[in-house]
Amino acid sequence: MTHNIGHITVIGAGAMGSQIAMVSALAGFSTTVVDISQDSLDRARQQLWSRVDRDVEKGRRTAEDVEQAKDRLVFSTQQDEAVAHTDFVIEAAIEDRSIKRDIFAQLDKTAPAHAILTTNSSNIMSSQIADATNRPDKVCNMHFFNPALVMAGVEVVPHAGTSQETIETTIAVTEAFGKDIIELKQEIPGFVANRLLNAIRVEALNLYDAGIADFEDIDQAARSALRHPMGPFELMDLVGIDVAYLVRMAEYEQTGNEAAKPHPKLAEKYEAGDYGRKTGQGWYQYAE
Ligand code: 3HC
Repeated sequence: MTHNIGHITVIGAGAMGSQIAMVSALAGFSTTVVDISQDSLDRARQQLWSRVDRDVEKGRRTAEDVEQAKDRLVFSTQQDEAVAHTDFVIEAAIEDRSIKRDIFAQLDKTAPAHAILTTNSSNIMSSQIADATNRPDKVCNMHFFNPALVMAGVEVVPHAGTSQETIETTIAVTEAFGKDIIELKQEIPGFVANRLLNAIRVEALNLYDAGIADFEDIDQAARSALRHPMGPFELMDLVGIDVAYLVRMAEYEQTGNEAAKPHPKLAEKYEAGDYGRKTGQGWYQYAE
């Protein structure tokens, strides 16, 4: 038990939430992942099981560890019930401030008073959500990277009113997950990693838009000349064009900064519904 954290709840069984929940179960926490859609939960279970079974086949994990983790992970559509005895919540729902505020207000009503409420949001800072609860001191960002089962870094980001105890417990949970901690001293939209990523992405979109090179060649430059594991366009497809777009939109709405507006080429993809791997079409096309 980490800082008396026995049970963890993850809200949202999308690409991020489902893998975060698996990370938690693999780390030994009794874990519930909640989604309003039973279909999303079924899909998440199927994808997670095949991921971890593959890890066993490849000798990356033991069959025993994986079976125990599967037993620790509960899939539920009943948020109130799931959080009634939880100690720590990681919200990984859609990047929409008002939806997140509603979720946090409900969590505040139903989770025990001691429970810490974190958000995996990449761009909505916890100060924008904390005041929807009566426990703003127990709210902060805990930001994972896609794919969460693989990526080691997690940003822990307090808002001005987050208590030291909440920061320490969130760091302890991150450590127990086996992740590397990137601790921010204060909030800033995009935090650290996404600000670095965005600088590359904007430059890549500008080069493409100006007809300097095809997006495939820009990706090649990132991979072959800079040794990035993926090019910026491939990475947009992995993370989701929708996520990339909404993150920029959220920053624009929070700051009023015109430069934060999604790039027109990104907006075009978003408006066409070409979200990347998840829809089979983004910058690249993906087989079923
Ligand atoms: N989920 C879980 N595990 C995955 C995965 C996924 N979607 N994709 C790959 N893996 C794992 C598997 O274990 C795989 O091994 P396996 O195929 O033998 O089972 C292993 O990674 C290697 O995968 P691949 O051989 O297919 O390809 P790579 O060696 O290129 O690795 C990658 C894939 C780990 C995704 C790597 O390309 C990478 O690190 N890319 C960059 C990812 C990145 O930058 N993420 C951050 C995005 S920003 C973000 O998330 C912030 C948010 O706020 C938007």
